[in-house]
Amino acid sequence: PDPASSHPQMEEVPLLRGSNCRAKGAAPGFKVAILGAAGGIGQPLALLMKMNPLVSVLHLYDVVNTPGVTADISHMNTGAVVRGFLGQPQLENALTGMDLVVIPAGVPRKPGMTRDDLFNINAGIVRTLCEGIAKCCPKAIVNVISNPVNSTVPIAAEVFKKAGTYDPKRLLGVTTLDVVRANTFVGEVLGLDPREVNVPVVGGHAGVTILPLLSQVNPACSFTSEEVNHLTSRIQNGGTEVVEAKAGAGSATLSMAYAAAKFADACLRGLRGDAGIVECSYVASQVTELPFFASKVRLGRSGVEEILPLGPLNEFERAGLEKAKRELAQSTQKGVTFINK
Ligand code: NAD
Ligand code: LMR
Repeated sequence: PDPASSHPQMEEVPLLRGSNCRAKGAAPGFKVAILGAAGGIGQPLALLMKMNPLVSVLHLYDVVNTPGVTADISHMNTGAVVRGFLGQPQLENALTGMDLVVIPAGVPRKPGMTRDDLFNINAGIVRTLCEGIAKCCPKAIVNVISNPVNSTVPIAAEVFKKAGTYDPKRLLGVTTLDVVRANTFVGEVLGLDPREVNVPVVGGHAGVTILPLLSQVNPACSFTSEEVNHLTSRIQNGGTEVVEAKAGAGSATLSMAYAAAKFADACLRGLRGDAGIVECSYVASQVTELPFFASKVRLGRSGVEEILPLGPLNEFERAGLEKAKRELAQSTQKGVTFINK
């Protein structure tokens, strides 16, 4: 079946002088797909990507509700052409020709759950979607949001390896929300504008694997050990703070959509060839002995062009790194085993 186009009436009523084309004079842009576009993250992320001038085509795929979300978003008078795709039979059309695929598909946590408790459902969802990517847009940059990120990124890598399309530079786990939170919380403690704060957050995206490097905050500053304990714990438990406040209605969606849009924009600026684009992301890495690790990466035309070193860590951070690595090793192995079992 045809995709649930944003202009379903167009073929019946030939009143439009241009169909599905960008406004005249608009700069050429990138083609972006959101998989899980009707969800709590997907909808506001679709809104934000429709506002991004670097996006020329926006494909919204989900197993439910994409016609409504697509119709709604498509009425925004911004440059991107929006098309909706509903259900597995339309996955290939959703993916064909994409430059960037963002994946927020999957179930979120409820109070009392860890991100790893989502593995059984989300691992299969990510596998299916990545099989589609390998087939239809093997050169696309892939941003994985679905939890547990520490395992879903290795799952995606294994799917791509099996398909013969794996390019570690193009597969990125989205950990931007940890940086966004860290900047906000550090800004609060120091009385600084959070937009002026940059905290590197390395490791992974779950509990103790989230390792803020408070010794490397920009602008340079120092913290008491009480502040370090408070900030580290709040950053590591930021997701749980939201899950508990939502009391069963899901996890972070709005701040996550903001973070995902920020990260996707950085990937697109990299693809465009902008210089000096550096973000933290969970990627295939040699920064530690582990196969995947989040750290600052420099983005460019081919995705991850450089993985930056961790820099000097203090004793507190070195201890945190050891804890993070123990858990990350298990989460990575769990993802690899899921595909190769
Ligand atoms: P949600 O339930 O509101 O939305 C998920 C969407 O995925 C739904 O619309 C659902 O229909 C869709 N979906 C389910 N199976 C699908 C499939 N096979 N193909 C395509 N779409 C499918 O959940 P949410 O709050 O948007 O969270 C989504 C995921 O993102 C969760 O796993 C959550 O834990 C994760 N998350 C990650 C971060 C991060 O920092 N990386 C932050 C917040 C949430
Ligand atoms: C987050 O950090 O908000 C997400 O990973 C969602 C969650 O389950 O906490």
